[in-house]
Amino acid sequence: MPILIQELNYTYQLNSPFERVALRDVNLEIPSGALVAFVGHTGSGKSTLVQHINGLLKPTAGKVQVDDIIVEPKKKQDLKPLRRRVGLVFQYPEYQLFEETVLKDVMFGPMNFGHDAATAEQLAKEALRTVGLDEVFWSRSPFDLSGGQMRRVAIAGVLASQPDVLIVDEPTAGLDPQGRKHMLSLFARLHAETGMTLLLITHDMDQVLEYAERVIVMENAQVAFDGLPLDLFKEETLLEQFHLDLPHVLSLAWQVADRRGLQRPDIRTETELIEWLMTKGVSE
Ligand SMILES: Nc1ncnc2c1ncn2[C@@H]1O[C@H](COP(=O)(O)OP(=O)(O)O)[C@@H](O)[C@H]1O
Ligand SMILES: [Mg+2]
Repeated sequence: MPILIQELNYTYQLNSPFERVALRDVNLEIPSGALVAFVGHTGSGKSTLVQHINGLLKPTAGKVQVDDIIVEPKKKQDLKPLRRRVGLVFQYPEYQLFEETVLKDVMFGPMNFGHDAATAEQLAKEALRTVGLDEVFWSRSPFDLSGGQMRRVAIAGVLASQPDVLIVDEPTAGLDPQGRKHMLSLFARLHAETGMTLLLITHDMDQVLEYAERVIVMENAQVAFDGLPLDLFKEETLLEQFHLDLPHVLSLAWQVADRRGLQRPDIRTETELIEWLMTKGVSE
C-alpha cells in the first residue's frame, strides 16, 4: 500500500491563541513494503505526521493518500477502512489496554472492524503467538502482566487487524536493552515475513542503522533530510545540525579505523563490526 503525502500542513488549535504549527509543507512518497525510520527532536512533528497516515488527524491543508484512500481537509468520510489497514502503535501503548482479559483486549480491534467473534478470536490468538506471549497469560487480566508483556499485548491488538502498514511510535521507550532488541527483531521479522510497510519512529540511531532502508529527519515541522541512513551518519555537519548521535557500532569502527589509518567501513550491525575487527586484525 503506497503512501503519498502532498503539501501536508497541520496546525493544532487553529484560530485560537494556542495555535501551534506542527507540520509545514511535508511531501513524502513511501512505496509499499518499505521500512522507513523517522527521527528528530522531541516536538519536531513525527507523531503528528504519522497520525495523518492512519486518519487520526486530518490535514489543515494538503493531502494524504494511502493506496486509494484520500484524506483531505473538510472532506466528510468514514476513516475506519484506513484505520484497519494502517495500524498505529503509540508510545507506551500499554496505557490503552482496558479489557478484562488479554485475549479480549486483542480481539477488540478485529471485532471493531467487523469480524465475527470466532474470527476475531482466531486473529487474536495468531497475533498473540506472533508477539510471543505464552498461552498461560491469555485469560489473565492485562494489568497483571509485566510492562514488557503488556506492551506485547498492545502490539498484538494492532496486529490482530492484519494491517498492511504498521506504524510504531517509539516502541522501545522504557524497555531494557534486551527488551529493545527483542521488540525490534519482532518488527523486522514481521516486515520480512509479511511484506508490510513498517514506519518506525525512534531516537535510537543503532536501530536506524541496522534496520531502516531509509531515514527521514523531521525538524521544526518539516522534513529536513530524506535518504539512506549511512549517507546521514557520514555527514558530521548534518548530525550536528540535527543534534543526532552517531550509532555506537559506527562510532567504534570509525575510531578504530582512524587510529589505524584504515578506511572507515560501512557497518550496520554488531556482528559486522566484529567481523570487520577480526579481518583487519585489530581485535587484540
Ligand atoms: N495535542 C496537541 N495540542 C497542541 N499542540 C500539540 C499537541 N500535540 C503536539 N503538539 C505540538 O506539535 C508539535 C509537534 O509535536 P509532535 O508531533 O508530538 O512531535 P514529536 O513526535 O516529534 O515529538 C510540538 O510543538 C508539540 O508541542
Ligand atoms: Mg512523538
